[in-house]
Amino acid sequence: MRHRNIRSRAQVRADYDQSARDYDKVRFGSVGGQYVNQREVEFVASVIQGSTVLEIGTATGRFAECLIEKGAEYIGVDLSLKMLRATRERTEHSASVVQMDGCSLGFRGSFDYALCIRTFHFLPKPVEALQGMLTALKDSGECLVTFETDNFLRRFLLFFGIGVSEQYYYRISDVEEMFQKAGFRIARSGSIMRMPVTLYRRCPNHLLWILRRLERLWPWPMHDYVLGTRQSDRNPNHGFLTNSQVIL
Ligand SMILES: C[S@@+](CC[C@H](N)C(=O)[O-])C[C@H]1O[C@@H](n2cnc3c(N)ncnc32)[C@H](O)[C@@H]1O
Repeated sequence: MRHRNIRSRAQVRADYDQSARDYDKVRFGSVGGQYVNQREVEFVASVIQGSTVLEIGTATGRFAECLIEKGAEYIGVDLSLKMLRATRERTEHSASVVQMDGCSLGFRGSFDYALCIRTFHFLPKPVEALQGMLTALKDSGECLVTFETDNFLRRFLLFFGIGVSEQYYYRISDVEEMFQKAGFRIARSGSIMRMPVTLYRRCPNHLLWILRRLERLWPWPMHDYVLGTRQSDRNPNHGFLTNSQVIL
């Protein structure tokens, strides 16, 4: 596991409050950015089939929107109030949102799915976060976590100080081990996008097809996932919220 310049929770909250307004434009404003968004939303939709969903790290609510459209009951948590407000607005107030730290979740036995996309690598206590997700799930509920990958290319870039890094990087085996420590059974794992998302975002429209072709051949996957299942062995206490701070 590699990490660089880890921010405090207060810094993360302040940074995301500050970037909330331009978040979608910066990440998904270009044609390449839209392509990445589409691939990630399709991936999430292929795993999560309706029902009740808890998301950790809502940002501006791109998954809230698509899951609610598919009929899910959705609750999202985030440190940033501005992100939570953006999620509420985007979903026309259909999403329930709570300001809460993903490392100390306060839900019990309520959800079919826990979802943590592009957020896990910011969490300072990942195993505690996974235990909170496990507790939030119903028996046989599933937990989908994606993260930025520790690999040769990443180490090379970090070594030469290329790009900004304020997070952790994991191999799939690191995250699988954490899932198991937290009490999950691993259902499957793999890559979502292999090429760096920054390349997609900056790629001129007419060259995007080249990146799409290279995607399958790229040797260092940059965005991976683990899907775990909560085994049915416990006594559920449904719908119990223990440590919310602000519910919008
Ligand atoms: C890069 S964004 C990704 C969000 C979204 N899942 C997506 O893919 O668009 C990370 C989000 O996680 C939130 N976040 C970071 N650390 C957190 C924590 N400890 N607890 C809850 N939310 C956190 C940030 O405020 C931000 O909105």
